[in-house]
Amino acid sequence: MSERSFISIDSVSKHFGNVRAVDRVDLEIGQGEFFALLGPSGCGKTTLLRMLGGFEIPTGGEIYIDGEPMAAVPPYQRPVNMVFQSYAIFPHLNVFKNIAFGLRKEGLSKPELEARVHEALAMIRLEGYGERAAHELSGGQRQRIALARALIKKPKVLLLDEPLGALDKKLREQMQLELRDLQKSLGITFVFVTHDQEEALTMSDRIAVMSDGRVLEEGAPSQLYAKPQTRFVADFLGAMNFFEGRITGRDGDGYTVEADRLGPVTSTPLTGGFAPGETVTVGLRPENIRVTPVSGEVPAAVTGRISNAAYLGDRTHIYVRIDDAAEPILVAVQNLEDDGLLTGGGDTRFALNWSPSALLLLKNT
Ligand SMILES: Nc1ncnc2c1ncn2[C@@H]1O[C@H](COP(=O)(O)OP(=O)(O)OP(=O)(O)O)[C@@H](O)[C@H]1O
Ligand SMILES: [Mg+2]
Repeated sequence: MSERSFISIDSVSKHFGNVRAVDRVDLEIGQGEFFALLGPSGCGKTTLLRMLGGFEIPTGGEIYIDGEPMAAVPPYQRPVNMVFQSYAIFPHLNVFKNIAFGLRKEGLSKPELEARVHEALAMIRLEGYGERAAHELSGGQRQRIALARALIKKPKVLLLDEPLGALDKKLREQMQLELRDLQKSLGITFVFVTHDQEEALTMSDRIAVMSDGRVLEEGAPSQLYAKPQTRFVADFLGAMNFFEGRITGRDGDGYTVEADRLGPVTSTPLTGGFAPGETVTVGLRPENIRVTPVSGEVPAAVTGRISNAAYLGDRTHIYVRIDDAAEPILVAVQNLEDDGLLTGGGDTRFALNWSPSALLLLKNT
């Protein structure tokens, strides 16, 4: 266990019969960190979260929280609290009683209890809502009540399983910011499960991307987005063009690669330990490609024609077809002003440019 880690997940597995729901996961989560578990449905996020909470017993491995092994510690004695996806607030209780429910075992006096509930209501900005019936609340308000009920016990760690999943897009984005502010001001460690990559990118200090029970990669959002190591992660976070490639050698501080549709290209820097002859997937983000109209033959340039375009308000997605290749290359263009680029479609040829560091060499996981 490293010095800085507050939660240490040490080779933890969970099998259900033949299903390896979680498979030898190692993670270190720091005090006060906002840590996201991100991955597609069924990859093991909830199972891992439930093991942190003590609701599932690991098949193998060990979990430490604040230096203590958790194996023999039941859920209610762990310094954690959990907010479930289906925010189970009691419809027959008012807001006050819903929040106070979290403290029922603590034997507080009435004034103490009232003070704590009001503190929690202020935290989620619902002062004065104590008497409101639960069914008279909006989805976002209900979600905040569920949050308050979990926070009122002042846990060191809050486990959140897709807590915003049921909210519409606008409310969801607002709650993302609120939740993030709340987490930072309280200094509580958050472990946050989501399958929404944008949510993970905007909210987290660090993300672990899971697939089939395993953690494929972990890192800061910007690092995972800009420099993914695996095809799976590159594909899961944002849009990406993929090209099948083969390493042909080295050129200065980069690898030379023969890639489909692109031809011979260079990728920098020289990391990843690739050998000549090795096959790789080359990744190129749509926003890292520049398109310029060209006339006549342009030697050594990748050129093509626009086969399709989708206007998305702030940007346009342009699909550029290289010669007769079946799969077009996606280019994202910021719509700063109408420069007439798209109206130049049809027969106009466009050259594609990018910097060598934008070409990512990915392992085919
Ligand atoms: N109690 C259980 N018994 C048997 N299999 C289970 C059980 N709980 C989960 N699984 C299986 O374990 C795997 C991981 O499930 P888990 O609920 O952790 O996924 P998830 O990443 O949370 O997915 P989602 O995004 O859909 O919530 C799945 O294949 C699931 O079917
Ligand atoms: Mg789940």
